[in-house]
Amino acid sequence: MVWYDDDDLWVDFASVMFPARRGQEAATLADTSPLLKVGADTRVLDLACGPGLHVVELARRGARVTGVDLSAAMLERARAAVAAAGVSADLVRADMLDYVAPGEFDLVINMFTSFGYFTEAGDNLTVLRNAHASLAPGGSLVLDLLGKEVLASWVGRPQAVDVEGGTVFMRDTILDDWTRLRTDWTLVAGEVVKRKSIHSFIYSAAEIRALLREVGFATVECFGDWDLSPYDNTARRLIVRGTRGN
Ligand SMILES: C[S@@+](CC[C@H](N)C(=O)[O-])C[C@H]1O[C@@H](n2cnc3c(N)ncnc32)[C@H](O)[C@@H]1O
Repeated sequence: MVWYDDDDLWVDFASVMFPARRGQEAATLADTSPLLKVGADTRVLDLACGPGLHVVELARRGARVTGVDLSAAMLERARAAVAAAGVSADLVRADMLDYVAPGEFDLVINMFTSFGYFTEAGDNLTVLRNAHASLAPGGSLVLDLLGKEVLASWVGRPQAVDVEGGTVFMRDTILDDWTRLRTDWTLVAGEVVKRKSIHSFIYSAAEIRALLREVGFATVECFGDWDLSPYDNTARRLIVRGTRGN
């Protein structure tokens, strides 16, 4: 089994990836970020939507949202979140490698470092190609990544995060001359110890910009935060917006 198709990983480490505070952050982003501005009937695809944090907030603001994820467990959580919020959204179990809905969306989002998961570089390119094809003319893809330049400022230092009932220890290792990253996570909860690893490609701004251009995006912009601040030495994330030509 490939690492990303392991429901136990997403479920066991949900407390560190999807704490309650991220739901509040999703609401704030939906209210404030020009990159996530939706109006009534904006058609949004959340690629690798996880438990639906952004699906819910964008649907609350009137968007017609489709959430796609490979994990049955995550989609179940997304369904529960959508129902609890009293909104509606389409939730689809699919691999982002295959999912394409030609011309159907105004905005495609891929949030919280959910890109670069495939071992073959060409498969990650296919995801971008699919996203481009799924956009209507003039539509945008927004990718929320941990850029190489940001990662370089702290990678290698082990981290420990307290979660409900335990602690998660995290260690990152750079692989293949800064091409890929392995993140090893260990959850210690009383007598229980669980270990999982995430393997992904990492991208500099120049590299991801070149990939978006290669699959046909007419314009590509890189930002260091959700307020459109520049991707410079103060950046917290690498947020990329590719816009499909008309
Ligand atoms: C780090 S989580 C982020 C979830 C969500 N975007 C968020 O902001 O909370 C990554 C998600 O990607 C999903 N995923 C992993 N591989 C996938 C694939 N090949 N196709 C679709 N979804 C995938 C996982 O199931 C998980 O829900």
